[in-house]
Amino acid sequence: MTIISLLLLASLLPHLTFTAHVDVGIVNGKEAKPHSRPYMVSLQINGHHHCCGFLISDEFVMTAAHCQKNQVMTAVVGAHDLKNKNEGSVCIGVKSYHKHPDYSNESNLNDIMLLRLEEKVKLSTNVNLILIKNKEEIKCTVCSVAGWGKRQIKGSANDRLMEANVTIIKNQQCKEKWKGSEKYSLSKMMCAYGHGGSCKGDSGGPLVCGNTAVGVMSFGDRERCNSPEYPNVYTKISAYFPWIRKIIKS
Ligand SMILES: *[C@@H]1O[C@H](CO)[C@@H](O)[C@H](O)[C@H]1NC(C)=O
Ligand SMILES: *[C@@H]1O[C@H](CO)[C@@H](O)[C@H](O)[C@H]1NC(C)=O
Repeated sequence: MTIISLLLLASLLPHLTFTAHVDVGIVNGKEAKPHSRPYMVSLQINGHHHCCGFLISDEFVMTAAHCQKNQVMTAVVGAHDLKNKNEGSVCIGVKSYHKHPDYSNESNLNDIMLLRLEEKVKLSTNVNLILIKNKEEIKCTVCSVAGWGKRQIKGSANDRLMEANVTIIKNQQCKEKWKGSEKYSLSKMMCAYGHGGSCKGDSGGPLVCGNTAVGVMSFGDRERCNSPEYPNVYTKISAYFPWIRKIIKS
């Protein structure tokens, strides 16, 4: 999720009751059962969690384009507690970064990226893929999000994977809510809201419906995580299939 400026941090101070809940990766979430989401990847810079991603093949991690900085990223697979050195997580280098060619840092459009790993991951109970589908139709509207997103306000980071249930909002309603603010694309975005939801550091993680990843965490309200007025926005994966196929086959 787009980083909040210092100015906006100051504007958060009046919402102290709210910030108390921001203390975990996903706001108002629950700790996930360890390794229950074996597709989750922690993308790290200099050994620190930076963004989330998810395995869509044994060689490719999907994430958000805005996660790319001019710094080398590594992918940690099979993790639950990022501080636990004994849980058998594996750190793999990124061979190539495939940011969507039409993503620009000036807009949130096409906020999707594929990372080719230096070596294929070894699949196991703790490391596995998640399905993505070419179809736009989403049967269930109650879906979930997960991530290691950090605290917004100063304090120690949460190192364990958190999760929350969210409801997909009708797309026209998403556009209405985001009207006048960031550009909302009906064909390339979707939005969701729940008691809990994604926060800073959860970027790039999947919006999961049933057994399928349908969205990539892109952006939300700059002033407050999981805002009902400006529900979190996800890049709609089904809109990018031709591009995904091309990268994976190349
Ligand atoms: C976008 O990237 C360019 C070049 O890296 C940089 O000069 C510019 O400040 C960035 N804009 C935003 C809004 O981050
Ligand atoms: C999400 O919903 C499922 C099914 O209703 C429930 O079992 C689970 O505890 C919920 N998870 C969270 C994080 O609230």
